Amino acid sequence: MKVKFLGHSAVLIEDKDFKCIIDPYLSQNQSYIENPSDIEGITHILITHGHGDHIGDCESIALKNNSLIISNIEIVSYLKAKNKSFKVHPLQIGGSYQFDFGTVKMTPALHGSAINHNGELIYGGLAGGFLIERNGMKIYHAGDTGLSMEMKLLEYDNIDLAFLPIGGNYTMDITDAVRAVHFIKPKQVIPIHYHSRGLIQADPEEFKRKLPEYKVTILKNSEYIEL
Ligand code: NI
Ligand code: MN
Repeated sequence: MKVKFLGHSAVLIEDKDFKCIIDPYLSQNQSYIENPSDIEGITHILITHGHGDHIGDCESIALKNNSLIISNIEIVSYLKAKNKSFKVHPLQIGGSYQFDFGTVKMTPALHGSAINHNGELIYGGLAGGFLIERNGMKIYHAGDTGLSMEMKLLEYDNIDLAFLPIGGNYTMDITDAVRAVHFIKPKQVIPIHYHSRGLIQADPEEFKRKLPEYKVTILKNSEYIEL
């Protein structure tokens, strides 16, 4: 399985006939390294919450690829109302569903989820994250979140790879993200949601230094790991 970081919170998971993108904030992200093949053949789009830097290019990617959009019911209902042809699957926090490619569970996040629709804020349900299990591998994408005790429960999932925000201001900073790693105990962790916007500045090397007993992998935009 190839897991590629596309900048900010965007992650691409690719494996045979499965190509899933999480929080595809690409065209509006100035640091995104454009690569058209990234968004070709996308089978699934996962959206953690309604903010523009997470919904991102969801609509254009779904239109182009007829992808299945998986998010909370408020966000998928919003998208479906805009375009009836979208294929959607609603989830809610704590709920999981067995898809043909594996299982997706929506996890809690401490964050907002309003959708900005032409300047008007629309209720976007509760912000979340995702726990994805495929072929015995578990990947956790925290979305945007503050530190929460709920993360402690993820320890029981034996997570192989965790994407955690470290940028502060809107989410956990490095100090809290380090605490989150101690709660979750993932086999590998990749920091996200830093440097890509003005208010979220954090040094991923400092995050790594503070977790000597963990495997912390810092990915530049467009870099990937094999899982
Ligand atoms: Ni957000
Ligand atoms: Mn964000």
